[in-house]
Amino acid sequence: LKKVKKQKVLLMGKSGSGKSSMRSIIFSNYLARDTRRLGATIDIDLSHVKFLGNLTLNLWDCGGQEAFMENYLSQQRAHVFSNVGVLIYVFDIESRDVDRDLATYVNILSALVQYSREAQVFVLIHKMDLIQPQMREEVYNQRVSLVRKKTKEAVAIVRKQKPELLQQQQPPGTPGSTGPLSPSSSELDIDLQVFATSIWDQSLYKAWASIIHDLVPNLAVIETQLASLGVAIDADEILLFERTSFLVVSKWTSREGENNPYGDRFERMSNILKSWKHTCSKFTGTPRNAEQFSDFEYKMGPSFSLFVMKFTTNTYILVCIPPGEARFNSAKL
Ligand code: GTP
Ligand code: MG
Repeated sequence: LKKVKKQKVLLMGKSGSGKSSMRSIIFSNYLARDTRRLGATIDIDLSHVKFLGNLTLNLWDCGGQEAFMENYLSQQRAHVFSNVGVLIYVFDIESRDVDRDLATYVNILSALVQYSREAQVFVLIHKMDLIQPQMREEVYNQRVSLVRKKTKEAVAIVRKQKPELLQQQQPPGTPGSTGPLSPSSSELDIDLQVFATSIWDQSLYKAWASIIHDLVPNLAVIETQLASLGVAIDADEILLFERTSFLVVSKWTSREGENNPYGDRFERMSNILKSWKHTCSKFTGTPRNAEQFSDFEYKMGPSFSLFVMKFTTNTYILVCIPPGEARFNSAKL
């Protein structure tokens, strides 16, 4: 029996931080420039995204205007924050009121920890394109350390108010544990990952691929099988893309392939194939979501060849192999 897995994903952050923009680009084939036309989200915009057959993402795009945020934290608290698999919290790097943004983040996180203690948290420091390139790393690092500090604070708040909720984190007899209010265990509860993102480059794909990677069930099985396939056809690298989003859900790299100096090649490919798909639909006049290309080939003289083709109902496969016509054709076969 195939187990169907549903994951509730909350997309939150201040109004205008770019939540609906990223959702539309990743899942609805918007181009970055199309997002300028998006209006503010009213209350919560729900969508369901199917992944690899047996994973469904229930994406809750939560409008970030203050009145809505207050409502999520009060009247809708249990409804919004129960059974959450993942919280994606978006910060606008250009925001003028950082303190206020962080205070809201703490409130949201406290509610999350209270109702969905196991949830994973991804923080996206977004609109990084608006920061001058030479300043980006510094600005990003500063923001990350603030966010980490606030994350601990949020956990501490819940500990204080509702210590019984967190009591099972460490069995009472564990060495070094002095009970639920012990400051040393205050980081235990939140599994936090932070990314710098922008809709204007491939950084968005890197962040979302990582989020998705952590959600797909049975990924270990898929990865083992990709490795067997890779060895059988003598490939340098194999990527598995989800069909609509072109996010890399799984990959395998040979030892030779590990020498590839382009560390961002995965998200770059997502970005390139997304554009390719767009271009195809322009020529054929099909609606954006319907168009699926069947084949993409690229031969880089004596260095490498690659092809991308439909693989399963929900995936495309990219195979990168050493040059040679015979090898290419048999791998494809
Ligand atoms: P609410 O629905 O009100 O909560 O806002 P939201 O977070 O959904 O914001 P939305 O996605 O509607 O984006 C607001 C504006 O930010 C749009 O004009 C986008 O084009 C712009 N935007 C989104 N992402 C980026 C980015 O990475 N860089 C820049 N420069 N602008 C962005
Ligand atoms: Mg929105």
